[in-house]
Amino acid sequence: MIPMTRPLLDDTECDAVLRVLRSGMLVQGAEVERFEQLVAEQSGRAHGVAVANGTAALVLALTAAGVGPGDEVLVPALTWPSPAHAVRGVGATVKLVDVHPDEWNSTEDAFAAARSPRTRAAIVIDQFGNPARAAALRPVLAGLLVIEDAACALGSVFADGTPCGSLGDISCFSFHPRKVITTGEGGMCVTNDAELARRLRVLRNHGQTAPGVFERHAGNHRLTELQGALGVAQMARLSSINEGRRAHARQIQAALRESAPGLSFQVAPAGSQPNLQTLGALLPAGTSPAQRDRFIEDCRRFGAQAGPLSYALSQVSSVTPDPDATRPDGEPWVAVDLVARGVSLPLFPTMSDADREQVISAVTRAYAELHAPPR
Ligand SMILES: Cc1ncc(COP(=O)(O)O)c(C=O)c1O
Repeated sequence: MIPMTRPLLDDTECDAVLRVLRSGMLVQGAEVERFEQLVAEQSGRAHGVAVANGTAALVLALTAAGVGPGDEVLVPALTWPSPAHAVRGVGATVKLVDVHPDEWNSTEDAFAAARSPRTRAAIVIDQFGNPARAAALRPVLAGLLVIEDAACALGSVFADGTPCGSLGDISCFSFHPRKVITTGEGGMCVTNDAELARRLRVLRNHGQTAPGVFERHAGNHRLTELQGALGVAQMARLSSINEGRRAHARQIQAALRESAPGLSFQVAPAGSQPNLQTLGALLPAGTSPAQRDRFIEDCRRFGAQAGPLSYALSQVSSVTPDPDATRPDGEPWVAVDLVARGVSLPLFPTMSDADREQVISAVTRAYAELHAPPR
């Protein structure tokens, strides 16, 4: 079975981790600092603050900016629940914003319609590494705290040529193994605001401004030196990883457009450069979740580890009180439809030609079985 993903790790990463182990200096230090500089540079930001994971990055970003009870925060409706959980975690209220049916991100019109006098902040997501419409969003979100959830989007580029990770007040990354580079677990906030960066550093380290000087109560969200060294080694590969992902994705999509013509793929805004962190596909309109599940099962049976696409947060009970509710305007959620017929397909930069052909063949065969009678 071709796995959904396979992180690109070789002797370089092993040597980096062993070097740290042998040094005996295991907690946040020079390696983490170098990793922070590299990710900040990549994102066109002045400061990087590494933390334990992408979810912690979001919680700390909201906390550093003072978001809390009484504040409403706009959150795109199609994603892993972390951004909504982070908002709830700081005591603020989530207001879901539906997503575009082709781009799978929330657009400027959707954010504008959702914004209310109570709105304090907006989280903009580059879902699956697909760049949000940064230039159109900036004026619509003016006056709000803007946090970019770029968890999936390291190395993606907005249509105006600026890097993902450069939008708004703070951008947050994840380095979970499903992301384009990994430190096992890991995350980072990047920002141009020196005071926000200072607060983030205090928040990740027990609230300390100096050893033993506690400015506020806070947890421990530090990254280890082992992870920092891994991150530095991975950053050297970022562009080749993303080039590999894009090249394989182009070939898989082109082949499937011929062999499984009812499948459709996430569309990037014209001129932008997605990193293809996830190769998502939609089954034809009207496909039921049960048919989608059988399609996933069939892909696996034929040798490709497909999986469900993502979550519609309007249906996630830890986010919303009524998982059956329609949108506030009475229309059905686009996010619910995308999740019902969405799948993610295997993609990783070290795929061989044979791996790629196996994915194409498995998906093609599973697609042919879509309308077969139940087994
Ligand atoms: C859009 C988005 N935000 C946040 C996260 C959370 O990152 P982590 O798993 O590192 O906590 C994820 C992880 O899948 C994600 O996809």
